[in-house]
Amino acid sequence: MKDPAALRVLHENRYHITPHIYVAPGRVNLIGEHTDYAEGFVMPAAIDFATLAAVSPRGDGQVVIYAENFGEERAYPANALPTKASGEWSDYPLGVLATLAGEGYTIPAMSLSLWGDVPLGSGLSSSAAVEVATATAVTGLMGLTIPGPKLARLCQRAENEFVGANCGIMDQFISANGAEDHALLLDCRDLSYRLAPIPADMALVIANTMVKHSVAGSGYTTRRAQAEEACAILATHRPEIRFLRDATVADLEAWGHEIPPNSLKRARHIITENVRTVAASEALLANDMPTVGRLMHEAHVSYSKDFEASCEEADTMVDLAQDLPGLIGARLTGGGFGGCTINVVQKEHAVEFAAALKERYQKATGITPEIHICHASAGAHSVS
Ligand code: GLA
Repeated sequence: MKDPAALRVLHENRYHITPHIYVAPGRVNLIGEHTDYAEGFVMPAAIDFATLAAVSPRGDGQVVIYAENFGEERAYPANALPTKASGEWSDYPLGVLATLAGEGYTIPAMSLSLWGDVPLGSGLSSSAAVEVATATAVTGLMGLTIPGPKLARLCQRAENEFVGANCGIMDQFISANGAEDHALLLDCRDLSYRLAPIPADMALVIANTMVKHSVAGSGYTTRRAQAEEACAILATHRPEIRFLRDATVADLEAWGHEIPPNSLKRARHIITENVRTVAASEALLANDMPTVGRLMHEAHVSYSKDFEASCEEADTMVDLAQDLPGLIGARLTGGGFGGCTINVVQKEHAVEFAAALKERYQKATGITPEIHICHASAGAHSVS
């Protein structure tokens, strides 16, 4: 799949100069869904799918961006870069450049070639991988060292303010700061984090329902608005509740009757998910995999029933995994309404697990899923 040497050759053939190459991964979220924008906890891992960025300086004052996935090139004057999104793939790298420019950095003339294998629209953060790859490459070219958490925040702002998708910090953060063979528990309030090793005998099996997911879609935005409505009502009683991170199940018991029913359910998901996510990180640190699996299962039920962000196919994929040998835990991962399930599976069973799940899902839905046996990979880095 992604091959830095091939991208180097491609870039050299187009721009006649040897580039520096950087890589930024996609992610899978083990647990902690729709908690990031509520200043809560998430526990993602970076995965093998990634975006590669090749970058080299230019002498003609242009910023030239080439996307191998689309076979398309765009060129702009470095001192007059677009300030508005166009609805095209170029919004993601341009959003990063606009955000850096907004921070006072002068964007140099450059050639930037991008090539990724994170499946698009599958809830594995293809957008964050492009943003973080761009930011790492461009800051590398500029000779800047921006710490991972800050780089992630810049990329989130690119997506919020330039692309116009109202995402939280999780995807950009794990792409910038992931660690090989580890999950990362992130406190989205202060961006402090700790790494938890994924035991060597466990595989991350990612099962794509093939139902398209989009953070820009209305489902994500509606859920977020409902959660924020519930939070605002609770805050009228306890002003210290600034985000749902600050609320408890007891708050819902006391004042839930004032909250519209759907918003109440969204809040219950987020509040209980925060508790489950911290507990899952502790269980992972203690190598207590049965507890990790149970919490993942409870998280899926909450995501499906309270948050109502699953879909029939994802519920089917999770159900069909339950009695397969080697399964520790399965749930829908990412923004919801389609995309992939994450299955933590004992490594020795992973190949048969993947084959059996594929067959069962195909039989149940008529859809051929893509199933990948992954491992937790490193965050963004130079591969030159
Ligand atoms: C998408 C967003 C993230 C996060 C998840 C849901 O991936 O980009 O910020 O909100 O959905 O957990």
